[in-house]
Amino acid sequence: MKSLTAIVSVDDDWAIGFDNKLLFHESKDLAHFRALTTGNVIIYGSKTLQTFPNKKPLPMRTNIIFSHDKDFKIDGAIVVHSMEKFWDVKRRLEMQEPEREFFVVGGESIYNLFMPFLDECIVTRFFTRANHKNRYFLNLENPQDAPDWKMIYASELKPCTAPELEGIDFDFAIYKKEREEEK
Ligand SMILES: NC(=O)c1ccc[n+]([C@@H]2O[C@H](COP(=O)([O-])OP(=O)(O)OC[C@H]3O[C@@H](n4cnc5c(N)ncnc54)[C@H](OP(=O)(O)O)[C@@H]3O)[C@@H](O)[C@H]2O)c1
Repeated sequence: MKSLTAIVSVDDDWAIGFDNKLLFHESKDLAHFRALTTGNVIIYGSKTLQTFPNKKPLPMRTNIIFSHDKDFKIDGAIVVHSMEKFWDVKRRLEMQEPEREFFVVGGESIYNLFMPFLDECIVTRFFTRANHKNRYFLNLENPQDAPDWKMIYASELKPCTAPELEGIDFDFAIYKKEREEEK
């Protein structure tokens, strides 16, 4: 079975969104997301779909959207209504194109749903506190909340290039779930 990796961007409080919007629009972060996910599989909830350009599935990737709505269909995506159905789809895709990687890309409810199944999280850390936020990712730095997770890589700090993010630095970090025998 292919592993599952989350891609997420967070602020200092591990907040990820506000009123169904991203907290930070930074072109280098979006390019990083595109580079990781193009040609691969992205998994997300129906609310995150609403945040994409024209509210459409992202091109050049296999899109899997979670929704409870059994009538919901959209061109360019596979819609699933349960984890059981998701595992069926994943198995089928793995057989068809075994080289494809699987990325869980939000939002809060889908990250939570997948947390027990994730092996790795690729986190863009914006070193600031957003003023308004109402969606969060598990704080992987908090040993009480995330005792199994360990940071294994952090890039150099980079300055944001978007004018509204002037003065804010970010980095790319990788967290891995430690197995019992590795602790
Ligand atoms: N910072 C980041 O990296 C990042 C990435 C992605 C998103 N975000 C942010 O996260 C926020 C959205 O997160 P969210 O939690 O509100 O929404 P979401 O996780 O994107 O989508 C929630 C929807 O997914 C469906 N769903 C959830 N659990 C399900 C299950 N077990 N079975 C079937 N369907 C299920 C439901 O769709 P139906 O209502 O259709 O039934 C639910 O309303 C936004 O602010 C967005 O900008 C941030």
